[in-house]
Parts: sequence; C-alpha cells; structure tokens
Amino acid sequence: MSVFGKEFGKTSDGRTVNLYRITNENGAYVEVLDYGCILHAICVPNKDGALTDVCLGYDTVAEYEANDGYLGAFVGRHANRIGEGKFTLNGVNYSLAVNNGPNHLHGGLKGFDRVVWGTCVASDRLIFSHTSPDGDEGYPGNLMMTVSYSFDDTNTLTLSYDAVCDQDTVVNFTNHCYFNLNGQGTGTVTDHLLQVNADEFTENDENCLPTGKILSVEGTPFDFRKAKPIGRDIHADDVNLKNGSGYDHNFILSGEGLRDVAVLTSEKTGIVMTTRTTQPGVQVYTANFLTDRRGKNDTHYGIRDGICLETQHYPDAVHHPHFPTVVLKPGEEYHQETQYVFTLK
Ligand code: GLA
Repeated sequence: MSVFGKEFGKTSDGRTVNLYRITNENGAYVEVLDYGCILHAICVPNKDGALTDVCLGYDTVAEYEANDGYLGAFVGRHANRIGEGKFTLNGVNYSLAVNNGPNHLHGGLKGFDRVVWGTCVASDRLIFSHTSPDGDEGYPGNLMMTVSYSFDDTNTLTLSYDAVCDQDTVVNFTNHCYFNLNGQGTGTVTDHLLQVNADEFTENDENCLPTGKILSVEGTPFDFRKAKPIGRDIHADDVNLKNGSGYDHNFILSGEGLRDVAVLTSEKTGIVMTTRTTQPGVQVYTANFLTDRRGKNDTHYGIRDGICLETQHYPDAVHHPHFPTVVLKPGEEYHQETQYVFTLK
C-alpha cells in the first residue's frame, strides 16, 4: 500500500483541502479527502481487467460544499435522524440543529462532513483526527476522534472509527458513500443485485424517522435475504417504501462482531462488493433524494444513480430504549469498523 497526497482545492473560507490516493499492489486505488474524510474515488478491477470507479463524487471542493447528499462523507456526531433534534441525557435536555423537516439529520448544519480533518499518513493506513467541542451542533461534551482508511492487496477498503469523550454524549458514525458498481456516472443502480443479512428492519414514519416498531422482512419488499435486483420491488405498493420514496431504511443485521452483512453485485462489470461491519444496522438508501447534478469527470447524477450502505446504530435510538444504546461515557472507547471488499464474480 502506498499513499500519495496533493492539494485538491480550497474551501470557500480559504482552508486547503488535500486528496490522498492509497494504491495497493494490484494498482487498484482509493482516493480520500481530508475535507469530511470523504471517499472521493474507489477504482477497482472489472471483469475486463481495467479499473472502474465505483464511487460518486465531485471534481471540486466548491461542489462538495454547495451540494446536499453527503457524497462519500464521514457522518457524525450522530448519523441519521434524531426526532425533533431533542433528547434527554442524565436528566438534561439537549436541542440540536434541525435540518431535515422537523428532525436532526447526520450531525446537523455543520456535521463532521464539513470539517477539514488533521491527517497522519502511517505505513498501513491514513488517519484523520478531529476534536468536536462541547456544544458542537448542540451535543454535550468534547469528543476526540480518529477515522482511518486502509486499502489492502485483497482490494479490501477498511474504515475504522475511534472516539473518546469527557462527558456523557451520543455517538453514531457512518460513511455516506454512494456506490455504483457499473461505474460512477453511468445511470441507475436498480439492476444491481443486493443481498442483506437482515431478518428485520425498523419501521419509518413519513419523515423517515423510526416509529420504534421492528418489522419482519418476510413477505415484504424488504426481504433481501436472497440476492435480488434493487429495482425489482422498489415500486411495490408498500407504505414503508412510500414513506422513504424507495429504500431508505435501517436493516437490523444478523450476528455480531466484524461479519459479512451485505453483498452488492454488478452483472455488467462483474464487480462484487461485500460489506462487513461491527455495527448493528445498515441504512440501505437508494439515492431517492439525489436531485440532478454534475458528477465527477463531467458525468451526471440523479435519483437512484448510487446506493449507500450506511453501517450504523439504529436511527433515533435516543428515543427508543429497546434499540442498542448510542450513549458514550468518559472512560469508554468507541470503536467501529466497516469493510468494503471488492472481488469479481
Ligand atoms: C440518508 C437519509 C436519507 C437522505 C440522505 C442524504 O441516507 O436516510 O433520507 O437524507 O441521507 O440525502
């Protein structure tokens, strides 16, 4: 694994943004920005032996700053939604930025996707670090974090998140990469085969906020236990699909520890992506709100032109005591890992 860094551009307030390319011995590579720890490109071998970039992104910092959608970004302090941006911890009420209808989404108005992170290049990984101050977007306590990325010779991209705090707080990190295994900017992903190791998912209301109910996937369009094309049931007459305008749901993953949780396959390129994670859930999001925009290398992106597999804790866990806790306490070490493993069919 070798790492090469260069300036990518500047933010609107003059901060330098660097791009790092991590290349493995096969010549496959991943590009990452220190702005938002963004996964900017993932170039892996296709069945013809050439490289395909399977990750959506933009050519300039200005586009990353101006556009919504969190393309490729590391997301926190709390990924996904917190109802009305309010929660109570140890008897104290906290109010967070509200940026998604009535709710808080993906860390608020200035989440970690908008931060220029400190960088350290180690021999086997790229490490980003940042301290989120007490009161940041309304969250309690200082939070010290590292996010590291490595890309090994088996074409395995490993994302590793660590954090400690000095006061009880809530933490739920994810990565918001939009994958298109046919190649970024080539249209929709509805032909991709998806398999997810989940018997259940969390029901959403019309604002994509969990109701607290856990539903079985059996007999529903959410049954991905056997691989099926993403588009097969996406227009089914189902209230949960309507509430998400497609798939935008937290699937409850079987098993524990670092394990295989999902497999995404492109018949066109032969590229297979196996997702592995330590996290209890994954938000399967079929880019339902990806409005028309310019993508990398003068491509065009629109609705369903990518799929996010956002490994995470369940959304709005602060309001549902039966969901795994997202509370982090001083003295505890938060650690989560996610791997995207690229192979060929
Ligand atoms: C997440 C949400 C979606 C949407 C995207 C960003 O995946 O669940 O509803 O907000 O982020 O556009």
